[in-house]
Amino acid sequence: MGNRFENKVVVLTGAVGGLGIDWLKMFASEGASLAINHLDNDEFRQKTESIISELQQIRVGTYRGYGADVTSEEAISGMFTRIREDFGRIDVLVCGAGIMAPYTTWKLALEKWERTIDINLNGTFLCTKYAIPYMKEQGYGRIIYLSSVGGLSGIKANAAYCASKAAVIGLMKSVVKDTAQNGITVNCVAPGFISAGMMDGVDASYIDKELIPFIPMAKMGTSQDVANAIRFLASDDASYITGEVLRVDGGYSM
Ligand SMILES: NC(=O)c1ccc[n+]([C@@H]2O[C@H](COP(=O)([O-])OP(=O)(O)OC[C@H]3O[C@@H](n4cnc5c(N)ncnc54)[C@H](O)[C@@H]3O)[C@@H](O)[C@H]2O)c1
Repeated sequence: MGNRFENKVVVLTGAVGGLGIDWLKMFASEGASLAINHLDNDEFRQKTESIISELQQIRVGTYRGYGADVTSEEAISGMFTRIREDFGRIDVLVCGAGIMAPYTTWKLALEKWERTIDINLNGTFLCTKYAIPYMKEQGYGRIIYLSSVGGLSGIKANAAYCASKAAVIGLMKSVVKDTAQNGITVNCVAPGFISAGMMDGVDASYIDKELIPFIPMAKMGTSQDVANAIRFLASDDASYITGEVLRVDGGYSM
């Protein structure tokens, strides 16, 4: 427990998933108020409500869910307007909404390619677009994108995912230059292979034979490892760091 994010309003996408629960717990335990984006359906509304009850056990605070598909400009624009009305400010944006389309390139349907780019890249752009005006007004903001080692080194049979995760690094570089004089920093966290979320369904023997031997630390990371990197980049300890890609990968992609 700490007070690193006391009086700070943090907006997160993709946090109602495998890795994100630990990002939410970390922010709640550090005193943040949370606006938690989730897919706009009953399943995710219920999941978000149950996570919010858990967060209240960790620390009593203001935590609200907002249903919106990150690919819909109308929904995202409306979500940021509501968050600003509800909380009065927006200090931190964490863009974690993402999917994978794990197919060999020549078997990857255009539709799956487009959906992956739409969520991972366009969704990140839209959230950035609608958060920045509030951050500029405040003269303060911390934006963190979830990239991946896939965007740095490539991962077999994952062309759309790797392209989208490389593209958010390019997006970051431009947004840094648009916002650096407004007290806003923009950075990426690039996790390697983390034992939660998207990696949950991956075959254990594939992990042992095809992944672990190529990770210098010879083990997968945890969602807490990713949460620790997000905490650093969102905090004032990182106030002169913008345009950085912080790898959390046990040495995999160096
Ligand atoms: N797990 C890993 O090993 C790993 C490694 C590198 C990067 N990452 C990145 O971390 C982030 C979280 O991944 P995870 O492993 O927790 O995956 P996950 O599948 O458990 O969570 C992804 C979340 O994104 C949400 N989402 C998907 N489409 C959406 C949309 N259109 N609108 C709003 N929300 C949407 C899902 O509902 C889910 O909550 C992703 O961006 C992922 O690419 C994960």
